[in-house]
Formats: sequence, structure tokens, C-alpha cells
Amino acid sequence: MEMMVAEERSEEGIEIGAGMGVKIETPVIVLNEKAYAESMGEKGFELAEMCEEVAVEKGVNIAICPQQVELALIASMVNIPCFAQHVDAVEPGSHTGFITLESVKEAGAKGSLVNHSEHRLKIAEIDFIIKKAVSLNLLTIVCTNNVAVSKAVAELKPYAIAVEPPELIGTGRAVSKVDPGIIENTVKEVKQVDEGSIVLCGAGVTNGEDVRAAIELGADGVLLASGVVKAEDPRAALLDLVSGL
Ligand code: G3P
Repeated sequence: MEMMVAEERSEEGIEIGAGMGVKIETPVIVLNEKAYAESMGEKGFELAEMCEEVAVEKGVNIAICPQQVELALIASMVNIPCFAQHVDAVEPGSHTGFITLESVKEAGAKGSLVNHSEHRLKIAEIDFIIKKAVSLNLLTIVCTNNVAVSKAVAELKPYAIAVEPPELIGTGRAVSKVDPGIIENTVKEVKQVDEGSIVLCGAGVTNGEDVRAAIELGADGVLLASGVVKAEDPRAALLDLVSGL
């Protein structure tokens, strides 16, 4: 399949800011496909296409983080924003198996998750990635685990911060219900540092009520995985989730 460069495609849900490069519309649901068997290969494509269909049908903003090996193909297949799940703090060159921001750009992605709790980085690496992403007009969603880390990361000026208490990930116990303070305080601290930063939250978010609660607490959207990827009926699960936007 001919690789289409992102800029050649008209993008749904992507607004080209004046001189600001791309950005994502909010409130937004970002689906992280992780490395689940349920999101590998063809199943990953189906999930991405389903996200695009629901986004168009319901007029809501959904972005997706495909499995890394399918990023380029899925980014060329759908018109919703695609993000890498991870990038490495390296320049192009002899770095076997590493993922550069340049390759993510060439794949047609809008940016990348950074420092996910399942793929932590050093602060210097996060700083390198954020700076290089800006130079490449890519968006960074930097994952954090609490308010203090979110505040520190905000000083590096990422495009977005996604606060996720690791102990709630995959539990179905939503951060917006179990620990609303982490969302409220992260929003407050991050926006004090950088009013323009987007704040997402995640971990255990599985239904529309969890999403609604997160937004009422000040979040610009949610980052989630198992509530859709591992659902009996992923489309029904996603439709429930978007009802909270
Ligand atoms: O990247 C989002 C993820 O860590 C949240 O996982 O399964 O609790 O939605 P989950």
C-alpha cells in the first residue's frame, strides 16, 4: 500500500492551528490498543475503523494508538488522529529496534504517547522527545502517575499530559471515581504552568459515566485501553464511553 504522508490527507478532527501546527479537538477519547492479542493485526485495523465510524456517526473526537507494527498502515487507513504508543529519545541512525520521531512522522501519525507507565523514560529523554516533536510538528501526550510528576512534566511544555495512577490501570475502577482529586489537582497545577496544555486522565475508565465525571473534574478527555479492546462488544463499549463526552 502506498504510504501517504500525513500532510497529503485531509484529516478529520485535526485542526491546523495558525502557525501552531496540528492539534486535536477536545474533549477527546484516546484509545491505546497496547499489545493485546485483541488488537493485533486485522483486529487492530477493525478497532481503528470502528473508532473512525463512531467518531463520524456521533460527531465526537476519538484518537487511536495502534500497535507499533501497524501504525503506518492504520494511519493511512483512517482519518482520525493516530499516535504511536512510544518513541525513543534517539536521532535517526544505528539504533536497532528503536523508534524515532522522524519515523513516526513518516508513518503519518500525529504524535506519540510518551513515558506510559508500561514504558517509562528518564526525564532527560522526555525533554528530548518533547523538543524534537515540536520541531517536527508532532504532538506529545506525556503520561504521568501523580500530581507532582504532572506539574514537573508541565514545565517541559508537552502538548498534553495524561495522568494515570498505575494501580488502577486495567482494573475497571475508574480514576474519575476512585481518585477524583488526582484529576482536579493535576488540571489545576498543569494549567497554572501552561494554560494551553491539554490534560487527559486514564486508568480504569470503562463507561460514559466515568468519562463524564472526568470532564466535569476539568479533564480535556480520557486515555483508555481495556474497556474497549478487551470488551465483549468493543463498539457497544465505545458508544457508551462517547455518551459521556
Ligand atoms: O493508556 C491507557 C491505559 O494505561 C489505561 O488502561 O485498561 O485501565 O483503560 P485501562
